[in-house]
This record gives sequence, C-alpha cells and structure tokens, in this order.
Amino acid sequence: MTESRFIPNSYDDLPTSGKSSWRSPSNIALVKYWGKRENQIPANPSISFTLNSCFTTTLVSYEKLKEKQHQFSFDFLFEGSPKEEFKPKIQTFLSRIEVYLPFLKEYHLVIESSNSFPHSSGIASSASGMSALALCLMDIEKELNPTVTPNFFNQKASFLARLGSGSACRSIQGPLVQWGSYKGIENSSDFYGVTYPFKTHAVFQDFCDTVLLVDKGEKTVSSTVGHGLMHHHPFAEQRFQQAHTNLDTLKAIFRSGDLDGFIQVVESEALTLHAMMMTSTPYFILMKPNTLQIINKIWAFRRETKSHVCFTLDAGSNVHVLYPAAEKTVVLKFIKEELASHCQNGQFIEDQVGTGAIKLV
Ligand code: PMV
Repeated sequence: MTESRFIPNSYDDLPTSGKSSWRSPSNIALVKYWGKRENQIPANPSISFTLNSCFTTTLVSYEKLKEKQHQFSFDFLFEGSPKEEFKPKIQTFLSRIEVYLPFLKEYHLVIESSNSFPHSSGIASSASGMSALALCLMDIEKELNPTVTPNFFNQKASFLARLGSGSACRSIQGPLVQWGSYKGIENSSDFYGVTYPFKTHAVFQDFCDTVLLVDKGEKTVSSTVGHGLMHHHPFAEQRFQQAHTNLDTLKAIFRSGDLDGFIQVVESEALTLHAMMMTSTPYFILMKPNTLQIINKIWAFRRETKSHVCFTLDAGSNVHVLYPAAEKTVVLKFIKEELASHCQNGQFIEDQVGTGAIKLV
C-alpha cells in the first residue's frame, strides 16, 4: 500500500532537458540498523544524527532521448573524472527505482558527484551519495508534477534513497531521523525515514561528531554481506528486540538531556553491532587495534575528567567521537593530543549535527 503511493500517474509532457543539484549529508546511527529483509526493509528500527560537513554534492543533467530506451542511458563522473567502476551500483539503483520514476529510460543522464571528505577515507559515502542522487531524480518528477508537496517530496526521496542503500533514507532531513516501524513513533515506517517528531533537549541540537579515520583500506566484509549474516544469527531476535528497547530509552533521554544515559545506550549499540559481526557464521572483525586503543582512551578520559564524550562505530574501524558542543574545546584538545596518533596519517574530520540536504540548482 505504501509503496504504490509512490508510483506516479502517467505523464505526457516530459521536459526536454534540465539540471538538478543537491548536497546531501552523511549520517551516524545511534541505534543501529543491522539485518534486513528483501528490498532493504530493516529488521529493526534505527535512529541517526544527520551530519553536516561530511556530504556528497551531485549534479544530474538530463536530456530527453528521441525515444524510450530498453537500457538506462547515463554517464557517471566522480570528482570530475568518469568512474566506470561505480556504474553497476547506479545501474542497480536505477532498476530498483524505475517503477517509481517510470520516465528514467526516456532520458540520458549525466551524473556528476563529489564528496566533501577525502576519497577512500573509509567513510561510507553510500548514504550521502544515494540520498543526493535520489533528491536530484525527484526534482525531475517535480518538473512533471509541480503539485508535489514538500512533505511528499522528502518522503519519496527517502523512500528511493533507501532502495540505493538502507541508511541513505536517513540523510534527507535532520537533525535526528528515525527509520523502521516502531510503536513509539506513530508515523514511523520501514519504507522511509521520518524526522524525530518529539521535542529534544537543546544539548542534542548542536552535538559534535569528530570522525577518526583509523583505517582507510577497503572493508574486508561489506555491509551487504554483514546484513545477510543476521539471517539465522543465533542472537538476531534478541538484538532486534533490543533496538526497540533502546529507542524507548533514548526517547526519555532526548527529552531530558540525560547525557550519562545517552552514552550508555550509544556505546552499547556500537559494541552490539560489532558483537553481531563477531558472532555471525562466518564471524568477522572490522575493528582494528587502533579502534580499541581509542575506545580505551575515551573511557579513561571520561573517568578522569567527567567529560560527556563517547564513541560510536559504523560498519568499519573508524571511530565517531560524540560530545556536546559545550565541551568542544576540551575534547578537541584531547583528540589532537591523545587520539590523532591512532588515526591513519593523523587524519580526523570535525563534524556536527546538521539539518539535512540542501538544493543547489
Ligand atoms: O546502509 P547500509 O546497508 O550501508 O548499512 C548501514 C549499517 C550501519 O551503518 C552499520 C548502521 C546504520 O544504521 O547506519
């Protein structure tokens, strides 16, 4: 039912050409999505902070073809140069969303993308990349149907982005986005992300995230494989249940600003994600020795200084260091003096919570 809502009526007057450009951010999950059913339907609900400085900028130029093609017609340029190796991923994305954007084969698309963060930094660009592309393609639909409301536009962009990469559906808006059916949020959906509907304490509105680049190499196990290993995982059901409970706990924390409670949920979620990887069949480890060194140093620093700094991890070895903006000076000093030495080439990226994607053209 929800899905059919995103299938448009037929149109006649297709625009001959046009351009659209969006800048879309990455996001970092606080309650993690790990495990999915067919068509990127999540096995459990998740919630993330939308980021600000880590983003993808995408420009789509579209030109109507003489007649509709059997194949998608597109070029892809990454940071100014053609990138053939990225094309299969885009091809798969386009075929998944074609039913919802039936005009796609009527056009030749030139997709030009670049990231604000260093290339191959180990930061996943699929969330920002897929959401930016989904937004550009939604602009073509808006040309065809100007009555599309902003709410529908964002919902469908999130719905499409999800079909590119699950977590990408949480990158359209901000600062907190929840995805996956969850009884604590009435309009929550497995099909798209929704902005967190309740009032949150001021401390969470400008929370900082410094991303420590521990290892820039290719991941040994992809997210897709990792999600798949949650099928028949011995702890899957308890884990999926725990995500619901952690969302309940966070709900009270977001309201009250209880930072100690926040730290407990967020760090437990990060370690649980990696515990799921370590107890999959086959098992695998994505953390590196430096990941653990950093975690131990954060714990020691917190004990000694009573700071509210904590960490989370995505599906890799990089560490996201989370802290309230009021502690920025102290925590950044700690990062530079104690943690940067555990990063590849001492690299880290200073980011903070953001409000979502921005239309450029
Ligand atoms: O969107 P995917 O399929 O790359 O999966 C992302 C999974 C995590 O980053 C580990 C967790 C999350 O909720 O973002």
